[in-house]
Amino acid sequence: MGTFYVTTPIYYVNDVPHIGHAYTTTAADVVARFHRQLGDDVFFLTGTDEHGNKVEQAAAARGVTPREHADQMVGKFKEVARKVDATNDFFIRTTDPEHEAFVQRFVQRCHDNGDIFEGTYSGLYCPACEAYYTEENLVDGLCPDHGIRPTFMEEKNYFFRLSAYQERLIRHYRANPDFVKPRHRYNEALSFIEQGLDDISISRATLRWGIPVPWDQSQVIYVWVDALINYLSALHYAPGENLVARFWPATYHMMAQDILKFHGIIWPALLLSAGYELPRHLFIHGYLKLGGEKMSKTRGNVMDPFPLIERYGPDPFRFYCFREVNFGQDGMVGEESFKARYNSELANDLGNLLSRTVSMVDKYRNGVVPAPPGRPPAESPLAAEAEQAAATARIRLEAMDLSGALDGIWDLVRRLNRYVEEQAPWKQAKAGDDAALDATLYDLAEGLRLLSVLLHPYMPGTAVRIRARLGLSADAAALAWEETAWGRLPAGLRVVQGGPLFPRIEE
Ligand code: ME8
Repeated sequence: MGTFYVTTPIYYVNDVPHIGHAYTTTAADVVARFHRQLGDDVFFLTGTDEHGNKVEQAAAARGVTPREHADQMVGKFKEVARKVDATNDFFIRTTDPEHEAFVQRFVQRCHDNGDIFEGTYSGLYCPACEAYYTEENLVDGLCPDHGIRPTFMEEKNYFFRLSAYQERLIRHYRANPDFVKPRHRYNEALSFIEQGLDDISISRATLRWGIPVPWDQSQVIYVWVDALINYLSALHYAPGENLVARFWPATYHMMAQDILKFHGIIWPALLLSAGYELPRHLFIHGYLKLGGEKMSKTRGNVMDPFPLIERYGPDPFRFYCFREVNFGQDGMVGEESFKARYNSELANDLGNLLSRTVSMVDKYRNGVVPAPPGRPPAESPLAAEAEQAAATARIRLEAMDLSGALDGIWDLVRRLNRYVEEQAPWKQAKAGDDAALDATLYDLAEGLRLLSVLLHPYMPGTAVRIRARLGLSADAAALAWEETAWGRLPAGLRVVQGGPLFPRIEE
């Protein structure tokens, strides 16, 4: 047992949420649920990034104040977390007064430590990134992420001595080869640092919508500095005891590659400057793509997952995310492939396994799961394979291989379906081989119980429904990871007949 603190990025409220936001939140939820199953003390944070130029512009376009805009949008982001069935322990808004006060204290510490100085900034600025670019970093003169032509800006700013942290960051990366995962993202971040770091502007003179610089109220703190600090500020005021001592440093910050540099370079340097420990790991997952392009609010090419969740519930979406796209890599998503996977894997593989098992227990044993006669339950021919599948899933989940873990779990689903064919309970019944039939039925019910524990992080509602059909409760203790030991299913449970777990999608 340990502690586990996982975060998602805090999402910009300049536009409505899309599948990319739902994806990171779901991924963080899968690992949070898994670590709770291990018995870890878990804190899971998500929230919204509400200051800055983008939000100010979005509000102006709608003819409302930035505050009104943020207040109207935040509900939609909270709803995403609810819709995907996320179990976040807190939802932070950067307009929370406690966050604002903490950011000022944090920046003051960097200032007091001599890391902040006054200067003039001029350069090419992309308002969608809220970031300056050099000519070399542009693609055909356009922002590589947004395809927008950056504008020339010049202003008096406060600067953070990022350059002073170059060597310490390199040392930290070398000493912690798993600081950023996967490996190619680590290499990317480290080589960026090795190329040399420039000091960065951390305040804005022209913008009003932000947190005032504590020693100069005519400027606001750059939105990225404000935003990054959320991971620490939240622990100072979210409900709970001693959260800072319990959960800092964070175990995992999760995100896509678009914001790796902010998290892999600026955030650790700010933490070093203010005197805090660095997060243990960043996990950088890939982009979900539609029609070959990264989806982005600024580009307007987004796939809307919410009608699918409305129709089929959160679990098929959660399942699809990690099954369709190898977690850590980019991948294409779309409604076609969602429906195909739903039908072949959820309706057929898993749904049929449950309905066959329950129907056979009903038909051959009056609805009562028999004891496996003549052998201890753990001596099933499936025991070793099932426990091996659980051990593999655990190793993969601990390594953030969310797709690999699910692959292994799905092999077990298919193994159980093959077991039905191999044992052919209908033949065992016809031959009057009661002992063999009891063993088969017990093994299938036990296999499904194990699956309910393994599937809980990915499909929490489905795990509960499977258990209900087997007559099992679904409290936290029953879903603990140690319950993946084979043979814990008590005989004599009464199964419950019911409709299909996943009704087929008919076109
Ligand atoms: O960057 N595929 O907010 P944001 C996968 N406020 N994930 C995607 C995605 C896609 N196509 N599109 C977005 C910000 N994401 C800042 C963060 S944190 C201190 C401040 C996810 O609303 C992914 O996690 O633009 C990405 O990193 C994040 O949304 C960007 O969200």
